[in-house]
Amino acid sequence: MQNPQKQITLSTVKNHLEIKALIQTANANLEFLGYTEHGHRHVSYVSKTTANILRALGYPERTIELGAITGYIHDIGNAINRSNHGLTGAMLSFDILARMGLDPLENAQIISAVGNHEEQTGNPVNILSAALAIADKSDAHRSRVGKRTMDDIHGRVNLSILKNYITVDKENMVIRLFIYMDTKLSATMEFLQIYLTRMLMCEQAAKLLGCSFELIINRTIINRQNQSPTSENLAKGEKNVSES
Ligand SMILES: [Fe+2]
Ligand SMILES: [Fe+2]
Repeated sequence: MQNPQKQITLSTVKNHLEIKALIQTANANLEFLGYTEHGHRHVSYVSKTTANILRALGYPERTIELGAITGYIHDIGNAINRSNHGLTGAMLSFDILARMGLDPLENAQIISAVGNHEEQTGNPVNILSAALAIADKSDAHRSRVGKRTMDDIHGRVNLSILKNYITVDKENMVIRLFIYMDTKLSATMEFLQIYLTRMLMCEQAAKLLGCSFELIINRTIINRQNQSPTSENLAKGEKNVSES
């Protein structure tokens, strides 16, 4: 995946005017349609968390950088349409990143991840794709709820989430998603109604990374893959990899 002649970094991508315009437009479109926040905060969280997952698992620096780029651009397809935005985003990304001079093989790895990040049409297909899926699907939090999204189930569930973070337990090869919900505002059942297929995708993604995946809501393991701690005390060697 390395090409020492031309190494495009996250900062090159972040400063690109077309990328900036696409992220801004994608967020504005989704806000208008009543979706949760998909702007700079979301893509920055996903970028950092994708990179952190790869770093915690010991991947090389260049793979981590590509993960950061992938996370940053993964939702630009929403500037075209919410439907199939993974696929349209991949098409847009390839062209922009190629013009920036990104190594074609690295570019192909990135678009594979972007094009497979939505659970309706995608499956984890490579390392970047797996880390991206987990980072993206973990971003459920009250800070994502806009004025127009409070009244539906997505708004209620996100509004109820007081805290969310991912940990990587490298020793036991477990990736854990911790969610703390205010059950007066929503319920685990409602969370599962909208997040079940995303959580199943996280299980698949963790498997590709050689790990198991655990979903822990309000200190209860929902998918029971391992007998794991469910408190805020991290296991020995376990790292919190989420970034807000
Ligand atoms: Fe997306
Ligand atoms: Fe996303």
